[in-house]
Amino acid sequence: MQKITLITGSTLGSAEYLADAVEQQLTQQGYAVALFNQATLEDILDSECLLVVTSTHGAGELPENIQPLFDDLASQQPDFTNMTFGVIGLGSSDYDTFCGAVNLVEEALAARGARKRCDSLRIDVVESWDHDSLAEAWLPGFLAS
Ligand SMILES: Cc1cc2nc3c(=O)[nH]c(=O)nc-3n(C[C@H](O)[C@H](O)[C@H](O)COP(=O)(O)O)c2cc1C
Repeated sequence: MQKITLITGSTLGSAEYLADAVEQQLTQQGYAVALFNQATLEDILDSECLLVVTSTHGAGELPENIQPLFDDLASQQPDFTNMTFGVIGLGSSDYDTFCGAVNLVEEALAARGARKRCDSLRIDVVESWDHDSLAEAWLPGFLAS
């Protein structure tokens, strides 16, 4: 697995910023990364390794920039049995629906047959500032599985 499709769900830019750092970390390790901040179904259709970096908004909802993709997933029901995926979430434990978008992403991709490579990373922005390092520490488990 050398190619990784990296997509972001972000409203205020933090998840996009984190995804930029993750892209850099992966590129340095020799992976070919295709990064999409407004991913469409077409962008991910042939991906064998998908990495989703998403914040949570509303009450446990997906950010607006990634919602259309998941609407299309639900309506078009593509076959993702060749896909593996991982999810990095940014959220706040001030909300009951902490990192709710991570659960939505996991469920939607699994429903299409994709396999989760490892436990998702749920970063609490209330507790931690160095999101890049947390992602960097999580990546080996994602890459190895
Ligand atoms: C209006 C609003 C609603 C939010 N709702 C949630 C939520 O339901 N669950 C959660 O874990 N975090 C929630 N958050 C926190 C954001 O996910 C967090 O601030 C994140 O870092 C924002 O990343 P972004 O800039 O990429 O959108 C909310 C933040 C705002 C401003």
